[in-house]
Amino acid sequence: MKNKFLKNSPKVLLATAELNPIAKVGGLADVLGSLPFALKELGCETRLIMPKYGCVDVKKYQLKKIVSLNIDFSGLKKTNLWQGVLAKGVKVYFIEQKEYFNNKEVYWGNNEERFLFFSLAVCEFLPFLKFKPRIIHCHDYHTALIPSILKQYRTEKKFKAQDDFKTVYTIHNLNYQGVSSLSLLDKIILPNKEKLSAIIAKQIPAAVINNQINFMVAGIISADKITTVSPTYAKEITTSQYGAGLEKLINKYKNKLSGILNGIDESLINPNKDQSLVLNYSPKTLIKKTINKLALQKEVGLKEDGKAPLIAMICRFTEQKGLELINEQMLKLNYKGKKEIESQFVFLGTGEEKYQKTLLNLAQKYPKRFNLQYKFDPQLAQRIYAASDIFLVPSRFEPCGLTQMFAMRYGSVPLVRETGGLKDTVNSKNGFSFHDFSTKQFLMTLEKALEVYLSNPKSWQKLQFQGMTQDFSWRKSAQAYLKLYKSFK
Ligand code: GLC
Repeated sequence: MKNKFLKNSPKVLLATAELNPIAKVGGLADVLGSLPFALKELGCETRLIMPKYGCVDVKKYQLKKIVSLNIDFSGLKKTNLWQGVLAKGVKVYFIEQKEYFNNKEVYWGNNEERFLFFSLAVCEFLPFLKFKPRIIHCHDYHTALIPSILKQYRTEKKFKAQDDFKTVYTIHNLNYQGVSSLSLLDKIILPNKEKLSAIIAKQIPAAVINNQINFMVAGIISADKITTVSPTYAKEITTSQYGAGLEKLINKYKNKLSGILNGIDESLINPNKDQSLVLNYSPKTLIKKTINKLALQKEVGLKEDGKAPLIAMICRFTEQKGLELINEQMLKLNYKGKKEIESQFVFLGTGEEKYQKTLLNLAQKYPKRFNLQYKFDPQLAQRIYAASDIFLVPSRFEPCGLTQMFAMRYGSVPLVRETGGLKDTVNSKNGFSFHDFSTKQFLMTLEKALEVYLSNPKSWQKLQFQGMTQDFSWRKSAQAYLKLYKSFK
């Protein structure tokens, strides 16, 4: 594909810890793996910068070394900058530093220290990119200190006057803030010989609480604009219920905050093309979904029964995801208050042990009706979307959530809690939702969904059809980001 970048479109550099398909832990990777392509289609040249983890395939992404620097981070650290190319010609810069990023894992050890180094390296390599971004767009706490460092570089005239960039900081999850002792920032000595810790303590004291630096707070204060990943979450984080202790601060800066809903990559998330399914299908051939259900039941060892409603959940098993609402009562719901429903459940994910235990107990007690796949397996995830009838996302909070959109594309009807991006994407035309974080409301809603599924196939198909044909593409969101990038004078 030839580049057709529009002249008046700002150039953008996205700084991230995760990028699908290179290094994925959560939804952050999916977003970064799609947004640059959508921006490119709008004529906006976007490049990415990330650490060169041990899992980065040098051949596949045609990596070439550009430059090496000795970066001072309490001692000189030899660091290399590489450039690679993603599928559709989008360029990615990789920062190689053996001590911090040689491992295949994204997160391990002292993450604050590792990503502080990454943030410094991004700033140091900026003049060597052969690409002059107008916007540096940082994602999550890992890159939240970039705006503060760049501001300081500019004040101290480390960059030329024409290198006038603006910073955007996107919060994907306010609950991971990146907190470390302030002395960690002693490792960075600014061009005027002052320590970054001293500058931050002087200029943004709110980022220092009890001698600890909060990366997220520094990002919120220093970035020129802040975004989060859905309009509802943008409102929620100004309240004490969802503000994770930062609601007052967020309120103070709410004029520069906006919520832009994530999209999904519709070319990848498509049941009609998905290679991991036993049979492809579209909204017109929904009947074939049953074949996928039977195949999955066989694969995981549930009772093979095309008529049994199959309910799925795929997530990281953490407090955020609402797993406290999951219990045995789910398996004892009645049809119209009379007969017990022979429903089936499949859960896929990894995470905290206490949740694994609860799920495992259910799986042991009901081997033909409840199945736990305790692993990270994207292909199996796709077969589950295709096989399931109902998809659960009962999160306590959910900045955006992508799985409900994936499920809808596969004709699996979402049942969600009304929060964040779940509220912005699921409604009575395409799914089911409940308001309070309570087992009672959750079970009532599940019972209602099961009743519609069992007694009203026409209404059910309508819900499926609506979800499958709705526009969840990145185009709209990319337009909103572009508008934001262009808003800088
Ligand atoms: C985080 C959030 C999730 C969001 C994703 C991508 O993982 O928890 O809600 O969809 O980031 O923005």
